[in-house]
Amino acid sequence: MSERSMTVGAYELRRATEAAARAAYAWIGRGDKALADDAAVAAMQAELDRLNLDGLMLVGEGPADEIGMLYHGQRFGAGSGEPAWDLVVDPLEGTSFLAKGMTNAMAVVAMAPHGTLFDPAPARYMEKLAAPPAAKGKIDPEAPAAERLKQLSAALNKPLEDITVYVIEKPRHKALVQAIHEAGARVALYPAGDVAGALMAAIPGSGIDALMGTGGTPEGLLSAMAIRAMGGEFLGRIDPQLATEAAAVQAAGMDLARWYRLDEIVRSDEVVFCATGITTGLLLDGVERSRDLEKTQTLLIGGAAGPRQMLTSWHRRA
Ligand code: FBP
Repeated sequence: MSERSMTVGAYELRRATEAAARAAYAWIGRGDKALADDAAVAAMQAELDRLNLDGLMLVGEGPADEIGMLYHGQRFGAGSGEPAWDLVVDPLEGTSFLAKGMTNAMAVVAMAPHGTLFDPAPARYMEKLAAPPAAKGKIDPEAPAAERLKQLSAALNKPLEDITVYVIEKPRHKALVQAIHEAGARVALYPAGDVAGALMAAIPGSGIDALMGTGGTPEGLLSAMAIRAMGGEFLGRIDPQLATEAAAVQAAGMDLARWYRLDEIVRSDEVVFCATGITTGLLLDGVERSRDLEKTQTLLIGGAAGPRQMLTSWHRRA
């Protein structure tokens, strides 16, 4: 393991996601997504500031001129010269469904050596395909859904009718869902949360065999980072959903037809990834509170050579 990953590893970085999850917990099911997000952002920022982390925020909550904390380009630690790490954060993945008290909300942070990540700016949305390690390099993302499912079924040696595809429930996915049904596979439709879906897809035996469809680009990058470190397939294509975004993406000369491979999106194995559950979902248990303690569950991934761990922590309440 290099000096860089010994400085701040997943075990230290998890403080940022645990803090964000505990702060967001107060806002579960209260109908106010803005306050939930603010609480998670402030808690994560405070913990990242406390870490001895020489990093640059590649993808944060938004541009520096619009956002006060965790903004794109924010510098952590030493603050001058080349940073050691590039960070991607989502202090509250699942803002609106947390406000509705629904499943799969989590706090996520990942980092990779500086200069090794695909920079998605100004793209906000990405079409994604995630699958277990056995499917790596065996699915043609440009093929129609029915064909991709056949390729997946062959790669996993699993009958098509037993394949389950995680799709977030959005009007834009109507045709995709229909195509999966017509192909004979199952769809697990969730209102939100494609980081959980992508990670489940990459973990063999999780009950989810693939993630398909379009979601946020930061969430795509975070999923790709985790999958690069723990093994699995992830492919992504820029897929703008907003008129302003489409214009910006076009002005930046981004190729909308091109599917990026995992090793183009994340060009290092030396990834550190942490996700802490806020509301209980497929991947993680949510925060549980008793009179004196708060319990959190965190997925820690410490690079391809490192272990993948689930950490349950009990925190004394202030
Ligand atoms: P938020 O935290 O922004 O609510 O993200 C939840 C999520 O479902 C992501 O998992 C997904 O990538 C994205 O929203 C999809 O965006 P949209 O809801 O705008 O289609």
